[in-house]
Amino acid sequence: MSTPSSPVAATPGSSSRFAGSQAYQARAQQVLPRGVSSSPRATQRPVPLAIARGEAAHVIDVDGNEYIDYSLGYGPLLLGHSPEPVLAAAERELRKGLRTGGITPLEAELGERIAKAMPACEMSAFVSSGTEAAQLALRLARAATGRLTVVKFRCHYHGWSDAIHVATDAANDGPSTGGQDPDALRHVVVLDWGDMAALEALDASGVAAVIMEAAAVNAGCFAPAPGYLARVREWTTRHGVALIFDEVITGFRLALGGAQGRFGVAPDLTVLGKALGGGLPVSAVAGRRALFEPIVRGTVSQRGTYNGFPPAIAGAVACLDYLGTHAATLYPRMEAYATTLAAHVRTVAARTGVAVAANQLGPCVQLFAGVSAVPTLRDLARVDKERTLTLTAALVEHGVAPLPRGMMYVSSAHTDADLARTLEALTAAIGRLA
Ligand SMILES: Cc1ncc(COP(=O)(O)O)c(C=O)c1O
Repeated sequence: MSTPSSPVAATPGSSSRFAGSQAYQARAQQVLPRGVSSSPRATQRPVPLAIARGEAAHVIDVDGNEYIDYSLGYGPLLLGHSPEPVLAAAERELRKGLRTGGITPLEAELGERIAKAMPACEMSAFVSSGTEAAQLALRLARAATGRLTVVKFRCHYHGWSDAIHVATDAANDGPSTGGQDPDALRHVVVLDWGDMAALEALDASGVAAVIMEAAAVNAGCFAPAPGYLARVREWTTRHGVALIFDEVITGFRLALGGAQGRFGVAPDLTVLGKALGGGLPVSAVAGRRALFEPIVRGTVSQRGTYNGFPPAIAGAVACLDYLGTHAATLYPRMEAYATTLAAHVRTVAARTGVAVAANQLGPCVQLFAGVSAVPTLRDLARVDKERTLTLTAALVEHGVAPLPRGMMYVSSAHTDADLARTLEALTAAIGRLA
């Protein structure tokens, strides 16, 4: 789901509390476009918060306001802002010298851990962002199959590269931003996720890959219809098409084994990022050994100065070790927390008559305003994005910081006290919409 790009307006009467963030914005806008380093950050209201520090599940802004954070750095901070094992591992590696652009033994250790958590991921190729990883996955699929067409699904997001940044909004099937080369998308076919008949109607002979989030969390927390993933798996196998699961959000979050573990369907290639590094910049394409043959043979080139940056790889190893050790308690607890949040939103909406909805999947909750339910991706067109921004702004005013577009990621660092405070804030924020 994309966010509206309207200019940020401060809520009247709230300026003194956010004076530091507002002053920072004014200064930053002189030298950074929209004052930020990634456009969605500029959509936060009442004002894009300038964050001074983060601790556990909390952030403190430059004005000294503290928030229970549910943006989790747009997802990576599954263990919160200050996970000791991740920080210690990254720090240890930093102290050995930066060694950027080199080979360190930790890379194979991380590849082994990924393969253990996700058995379909026999090999891993590391890069720094999910966008790069998705681009490399498409390149591998095209090289391995000798075909060009890529099937992607409406409202699914796979990063901002020209190769795949298309149809990320319910209302637009074209390029997702200005400045894109439309020719780069010539071989991308857009279908509705869940529409098996549309996939089966395609001439598969030119199709290199089908790429999807196996559970559409980025788009607003939608589970796949029962049996759908297995049918897509069967169709892709029958036609020699590479099935790519983009698990940048779902990987290590919906379960240690990701969406593929949770739903029991193995893709050919998996795109990983975010929670993999516990907050450090590391992403990967992982998958069946045969799909990596083009890199092994040297016909496909994997490039990147910062690939395998030692502190990030060490942090990822520590993160996966922690998740592996605590999986039995950590995942059910995060999920129960998220279930309570979503149930509370529905209860308050029913009691007050305010049109607000909450979707929940695993430790993720998506808030929507202007509607009472959003059961499918098609229903996203009915969501009032402006009102959703107003709802999240009200939450910020009450000390709770979701993503501006309404996503709330739960981490292992959120406590029962955080939950109680958040329920109160949700009641108050929904009341403000009445
Ligand atoms: C499903 C999905 N794929 C890919 C990406 C791109 O990852 P990155 O922002 O690290 O480039 C994102 C980012 O939000 C994502 O949610």
